[in-house]
Amino acid sequence: MSTRWAARADLVVVGTGVAGLTAALRARELGLRVLVVTKAAAVDGNTRWAQGGVAVVLPGEHDAGDSVERHIADTLTAGAGLCDEAAVRAIVSGGPAAVSRLMARGAVFDSAPDGRLARTREGGHSAFRVVHAGGDATGAEVERALLAATRDGRIPVLEDHVAVDAVRTASGAVAGLVVLDGSGVPGVLGAQAVLLASGGLGQLYQATSNPDVATGDGVALALRAGAPVADIEFVQFHPTVLYTGAGARGRCPLVTEAVRGEGAVLVDALGDRVMAGVHPLADLAPRDVVAAAITRRLLSAPGGVDDHVFLDATHLPAAAFAARFPTVHAACLAEGVDPAVSPIPVAPAAHFACGGVVATVDGRTPVVGLYAAGEVASTGLHGANRLASNSLLEGLVVGSRAAEAVAADIAAGLLARPAADGELPVAPVAARDSLQRVMSRYAGIGRDAEGLAVVGSVLDVSSVDRLLDSRAAVEDAALTVVARALIAAASARTESRGCHVRTDHPGRDEVARRLHIRTTPSGQPV
Ligand code: SIN
Repeated sequence: MSTRWAARADLVVVGTGVAGLTAALRARELGLRVLVVTKAAAVDGNTRWAQGGVAVVLPGEHDAGDSVERHIADTLTAGAGLCDEAAVRAIVSGGPAAVSRLMARGAVFDSAPDGRLARTREGGHSAFRVVHAGGDATGAEVERALLAATRDGRIPVLEDHVAVDAVRTASGAVAGLVVLDGSGVPGVLGAQAVLLASGGLGQLYQATSNPDVATGDGVALALRAGAPVADIEFVQFHPTVLYTGAGARGRCPLVTEAVRGEGAVLVDALGDRVMAGVHPLADLAPRDVVAAAITRRLLSAPGGVDDHVFLDATHLPAAAFAARFPTVHAACLAEGVDPAVSPIPVAPAAHFACGGVVATVDGRTPVVGLYAAGEVASTGLHGANRLASNSLLEGLVVGSRAAEAVAADIAAGLLARPAADGELPVAPVAARDSLQRVMSRYAGIGRDAEGLAVVGSVLDVSSVDRLLDSRAAVEDAALTVVARALIAAASARTESRGCHVRTDHPGRDEVARRLHIRTTPSGQPV
């Protein structure tokens, strides 16, 4: 089906989270005409749910002994040998300026009694360096400030507009996007550059900290546009979402790692510490280590499989907990749990895609005209496991750099002329319920060849080709192609590393240490 309306810009940004809005604001500062599209309301993405904060070592604010070098070292350690050190260095070093720009745009971070910014600690950090806002509502404050600045800058944001497919020229360059408007009518947004800042893919699983919109759309769109994807097997499970009963589905409330940063500990149903003796950092070990330890403890529970453990924060006075963690406190009370009195029931859930569309720290992908920033991108920052609170940091730094790269590429005449029309594509679509069920059962924490093959065959049997003419079809097609890519990469990685745990290959394969599994547009891992 051909498009029936058209609009034009220099840069089209897909997504209204931290990376997308930062890019849009920077692009506007550089004089580009920008259009932002999002398939839901602007506030509906993942950014506003981020709790912990932004990991950054600010001059004059950090503790004695902390440094950008230590932040880099912690990021490399968490990434379990697969980070790109140059990318880590560029993004972590860019943090202080990026956070200062965000504050200049109106974001307000919490202050400590000494007047400096308050800082907390999360898993894998060797120092208190995570700045936060509203106690545990950092993402909400970042989103508020960036959206306000976007409105003040009169940057058009098309809500309820679904990005379906890239329009490509004969030479393969991206020259715009096919989009469904709020009534489902297909149109084309012609642009020299398209920036994917569309977030993650937590909806591949039944239980996730991610909102409904996190369906991997950007990864799917990039693959169809000819861009490679890397490290997609590394899906980070957050160790502690609030356990709301057996068979919890959809977005589960997060219980930020900062609760452990303030001294809470994980215990099992018998009251025994989960992390004792597992890692030198105990409850503040990197997230992959904690999530895997919880999973092992659940599987070894007396009498069979248990489905949650507890986070004991009862050492914190009631008023202090409510003031420091208002979001978590409200979610607990809604479930009838008072964290000052009872340990909080928690379980791991899908949280963050460490891999994604292969991109440089300037957001450039191998496809001319296509850029990626934020969770959708694989810049090399996260390796096999993202360090806590490095994601808002990455969105701020790479979002800005990507806008600068687009401006430079336009000025250098490297990009194609904006497209005037396009077509809706047809793609394989599997039933979402069965996809989420088998992904959760066989491709979560703890995978083996047999289980991954089951997922592959369920996807093969249940997929049918359909025209991507609705948001549901676009999302289901994205989940299908991303699940296939993940299964292929997870099958090819015959070792355990970071958040990819193979029960049939429990050790690290040091030959594979520097290997990134790339998924090509044909869906084959290389
Ligand atoms: C958390 O607050 O525990 C989550 C922060 C993050 O994912 O970086």
